[in-house]
Amino acid sequence: MSKNQKYNLQLDENVDYKKGLKLVLRHVKPYIFPFILISICLLVATILGNAILPRLLKQAIDVNITNKDLAGLTQTTLIFIGLGVIYLILSYIRLFFTGKLGQNILFNIRKELFNKIQTLPSRFFSDNQSGDIIQRLTGNVDTLSAFFSEGIIRLLDVVFSLTIILISIFLQSNLIGFIALGGAFVMIVYIAIQGRIIEKPITESLKKEGNISANVQESLDGFVAIQSTNQQKSWTNNFQKRTASYYTTMKKVSLISALSKSILTFLSVVAVCILLLTSLNLYAKQIITIGTVILILSYMQDLLQKIVDIAEIWRIIKTGMASAERLSDVMELESDISTPTLPYTPKVVTGSVEFKDVDFAYVENEKVLSDVNFKVDAGQTIAIVGPTGAGKTTFVNLIARLYDTDNGNIYVDGKDIKEWDLEALRKNIGYLIQDTFLFEDTILNNLKYNNPGVTTEQALQVFKDLGTESFITSLTEGLETKISTESSEISAGQRQIIALARILLRNPKILILDEATARIDTKSEKMLQNAIEKACEGKTTFIIAHRLSTIFNADQIILIKDNTILEKGSHKELLALKGLYFEMYSRFVGK
Ligand SMILES: Nc1ncnc2c1ncn2[C@@H]1O[C@H](COP(=O)(O)OP(=O)(O)O)[C@@H](O)[C@H]1O
Ligand SMILES: [Mg+2]
Repeated sequence: MSKNQKYNLQLDENVDYKKGLKLVLRHVKPYIFPFILISICLLVATILGNAILPRLLKQAIDVNITNKDLAGLTQTTLIFIGLGVIYLILSYIRLFFTGKLGQNILFNIRKELFNKIQTLPSRFFSDNQSGDIIQRLTGNVDTLSAFFSEGIIRLLDVVFSLTIILISIFLQSNLIGFIALGGAFVMIVYIAIQGRIIEKPITESLKKEGNISANVQESLDGFVAIQSTNQQKSWTNNFQKRTASYYTTMKKVSLISALSKSILTFLSVVAVCILLLTSLNLYAKQIITIGTVILILSYMQDLLQKIVDIAEIWRIIKTGMASAERLSDVMELESDISTPTLPYTPKVVTGSVEFKDVDFAYVENEKVLSDVNFKVDAGQTIAIVGPTGAGKTTFVNLIARLYDTDNGNIYVDGKDIKEWDLEALRKNIGYLIQDTFLFEDTILNNLKYNNPGVTTEQALQVFKDLGTESFITSLTEGLETKISTESSEISAGQRQIIALARILLRNPKILILDEATARIDTKSEKMLQNAIEKACEGKTTFIIAHRLSTIFNADQIILIKDNTILEKGSHKELLALKGLYFEMYSRFVGK
């Protein structure tokens, strides 16, 4: 299997309903008892509503009214009302439990999905458009919700009702029973056929809906790039094309369903006419009473109602199953980056790192790194330089197994990182990147994010250790100051300091600074520089910096170009090489 297909979620033209059904059954299984309770309520209510209550009507007409028996009529009416109340209570219980059951199942599915996504490797997020992922987690889950709250129970309702009504009709007259059965059969076959016809445009519409949200997501993510390059028009055109295409498909869906509804109504009118004629004929021949004619008409009305419902239920079930399939596509993904069965979980970590013959590609056959070899002792500082797109970020991301190498191995503390407990490995690596993510919350709560037990004293101590306590004390609310995107109280450099403090509280042995000072205002640059220097003490540190001034003092400098390490050594050694580094340096000093 090619590697970039691995995490790529695809929407097959042919929906695998079996797969969807499996997901549904697996989630219904734990709730089998409430489900049986609901089914029993439903069955009893159906017998009451569709068989017994209409019979009382016949009783009132044929016996009570014919005999002018007022007392009997009152009694029949009271029984009717009593049973009607029981019917309502049963319906209430059923609806309440169905709603609860549906919500429970959805809660579990959402939880499972979300947990699954948390375990997936970075490749999943680069292989799929975030819009498509969001569509699956929201739209598809909603459709599945309709399936649970309406689809399953209404299907059961239809099956029970049709059986009971048909039996009731047969009990009155075999001839009419066969007519009703024949009519029901023709209509159900018709519904099945139109369901097949409408299936393709529905799948198509799901796919196109996903395309639209992916497009919206991309345009929101990239709006700076779009506006600065004057690409608004082409994006608008592209969006319009996608919505127009969705519109065309939905028009097809509406057209087919409107047409099929009309045909269905026509069929039911024909059925009622045949039935009415036949039963009146039987009444004329005095084979059945007028009460029976009315009873049969009432049965027939219920029967038609349920049959017309089938089309709608069919649609809910089909889209529900298609959604279930799309969700199980996500659930089936297995991360190939995980902790081995016998993991290495060291008590003491020193932080040495070694790359041996490492190759890596995001896309098959397009190597980003090839044949990378180097070794760093614990506590050393390594600077990584090279042009944009050379693979510097990729290089450091491999250390925390955000991606796995294609060939070769990476060792931390002499142990292959694939043998490490993944959590232990990542706990020992701190990343400070250019666009640090901080929550819109207080500074203290941000520090607590991956160090829940942190006290105010410990937090203040970290800022002290970094030589940045003046920054905290200068804030009127100190650690309780809220970080928000709007407030200018905290500058970009200060955000980085908070992020650095958050990392240090975890005390990782390896520190990775990926262009961490690239977007810093001159005001806080010095403070951040000092803080970083303090943070590096006693840690193996990888620094990726666009400013050469920050890397002169590194123990080793690695120059990456054309997918591999072009030059490596100390600042002095590299200058002596008179190669690319020398050239870059000369340009830097020259300006
Ligand atoms: N998630 C990704 N999927 C596919 N290609 C990527 C991904 N991330 C980076 N690349 C590509 O890999 C190369 C190296 O990228 P990167 O490591 O970010 O370089 P640098 O940090 O040196 O600027 C670039 O050509 C970039 O386009
Ligand atoms: Mg980079």
